[in-house]
Amino acid sequence: MSYKVKDIGLAEQGKLKIEWAEQQMPVLMSIRKDFEKAQPFKGVTVAACLHVTKETAVLVRTLKAGGAIVGLSASNPLSTQDDVAAALASEGITVFAWKGQNNDEYYWGLNQLLELKPNITLDDGADVISTIHSKRTDLLKNVFAGQEETTTGVIRLKAMAADGALKYPIIAVNDTPTKHMFDNYYGTGQSTIDGILRATNIMLAGKTVVVCGYGYCSAGIALRSDGMGANVVITEVDPLKALKAAMDGYRVMPLKEASKIGDIFITATGDKNILRAEHFQLMKSGAILANSGHFNVEISIPDLESLSKERKKINENTEEFTLKTGNKLYFLAEGRLVNLAAAEGHPSAVMDMSFADQALVCEWLVKNYKTLTPVVHDVPKEIDEKVARLKLKSMGVEIDSLTDEQKHYLGSWQEGT
Ligand code: ADE
Repeated sequence: MSYKVKDIGLAEQGKLKIEWAEQQMPVLMSIRKDFEKAQPFKGVTVAACLHVTKETAVLVRTLKAGGAIVGLSASNPLSTQDDVAAALASEGITVFAWKGQNNDEYYWGLNQLLELKPNITLDDGADVISTIHSKRTDLLKNVFAGQEETTTGVIRLKAMAADGALKYPIIAVNDTPTKHMFDNYYGTGQSTIDGILRATNIMLAGKTVVVCGYGYCSAGIALRSDGMGANVVITEVDPLKALKAAMDGYRVMPLKEASKIGDIFITATGDKNILRAEHFQLMKSGAILANSGHFNVEISIPDLESLSKERKKINENTEEFTLKTGNKLYFLAEGRLVNLAAAEGHPSAVMDMSFADQALVCEWLVKNYKTLTPVVHDVPKEIDEKVARLKLKSMGVEIDSLTDEQKHYLGSWQEGT
């Protein structure tokens, strides 16, 4: 079987969506043109476990245009856009993804994908890499290298490398500036608000929004909540990030304090049980709980259930928990990343850069994987710079360059006061 999607009849609608994304992804489209000529992936199989969105489809089409055999499975049970999955399947791409997979179905899809025996793995959350290393070690001999797209995945992989458990090299696409400074910050900022608004249509102006964490993703959420007129409170465990949040003008306080005043709570920390019983018990009735971190572990569902006497769905992405005290808490998208489960993920224009990084790293890996040790590596600097330059060009933004005299000055130490 080369695909399993919700409804192959949705393919035409999916194709229109992908074309819309292509219009807004000029960097990736220019890379596609180069790949069509150079065919860098002849004989290379790429297994991608990514959010199955219109933007991911543009990446998949680009790798295919470069000669790759590409397969795709979902990196989250709720993030698949069914029409996009259908469109890709109708183009002959191996796809195992539909929205609303249960855990068994999710891993079934991932294991079907692995039947392609990939040379390169693309992950968003490290599930392919960890499955190959635990249950499908027979596949290790085929794999040249992998890429990881998200902060949570990079943390998992660095832990694997530190344990000596990592058996093939990984490029941490997440950690490159053209990814995290834009996708994590502006992308997560906008799409998280989008997901919360699509699920609830609440007014943000005048509300107190508590953002748990102040990494790139959470800082982006704070920025955009502030821009919509909310009073933003940050909670942190890292003193440097907390200090940055305070100097960016936000109130910073312990989560137990923030629990008493928040109207909307948004987690994006990468860790588990951030919001738990001790916080739910302090919250005002009507508070909204959303997660934008990779896994659905940041808001404790067992704690919510054990404190509640009733749980009911009030729309596709909002559930009402009535606590035994009578207070009501509103839980979005089953605690899965609200930006992809309740909205469409990051806008195409920002995924243009992240996926341009991925496409160029694939090309670089085919040429260079033999030189790499099995640890987590950075994206080569020249790829990052190329993506930034192409993006600026597509935006019609020109920049200056150093004069010879300035270059000499920067390379010397003799000139001083
Ligand atoms: N991660 C966040 N937004 C995304 C999108 N639109 N497509 C793929 N992965 C994403």
